[in-house]
Amino acid sequence: MSDYSVLPVPPMSIRFDQAAGTLSPAGPELTRRMSDLEGLFLDQNAWRTAVADGDPIVYSVVSSLVPEADRELPQSITTIQPGSTGGEFWMTKGHQHPNHQGEIYLGISGRGGLLMFDGTDTRWVDMTPGTIGYIPPGWAHRSVNVGGKPYSFLAVYPGGAGHDYGWVLEYGLGQRVWRQDDGVAFGGYFAEASS
Ligand code: F6R
Ligand code: ZN
Repeated sequence: MSDYSVLPVPPMSIRFDQAAGTLSPAGPELTRRMSDLEGLFLDQNAWRTAVADGDPIVYSVVSSLVPEADRELPQSITTIQPGSTGGEFWMTKGHQHPNHQGEIYLGISGRGGLLMFDGTDTRWVDMTPGTIGYIPPGWAHRSVNVGGKPYSFLAVYPGGAGHDYGWVLEYGLGQRVWRQDDGVAFGGYFAEASS
């Protein structure tokens, strides 16, 4: 065996069933409900109301068997449900990779966006099926569903990158993404909630 090979994951094919939203063979799955998103929506009262009012599933992530380990290249599919809280579109928590490394997202279905923030500058990439969004090392990232249907995308990232969620709570993600009529409006991250 080559010195470059690492166990325990063998070469494999991984099947994505779009209708079922599953990967097989399947790895870890997680579900994020509204109550898991504390401190992320600008309008905290609207967030509390949504938690009390059924605590809906906001997004789910299914992963393959490839582990989050150095030199591996894990993948996952995230599906964000359509919705808004206090006028802010439903979104992922967002994170920074502490071992700064790049990542790619591929839009699969629905209409979303990829929000990136490096502590100074903010970037937004419209994500539709077939769009590859590139996240350079050092850019925190969050996904947002700006459509009326579930938004799904594939993420591929270095297994040793790590995930830092505290960074986003402290520094934010540069901009808020608001529902406006039938469109999208951007606003300051730490601005006061409009009543
Ligand atoms: C992995 C990655 C995505 C997200 C997923 C959920 O590095 O960027 O797979 O982990 O979209 O978002 P978070 O992790 O921010 O809750
Ligand atoms: Zn990431």
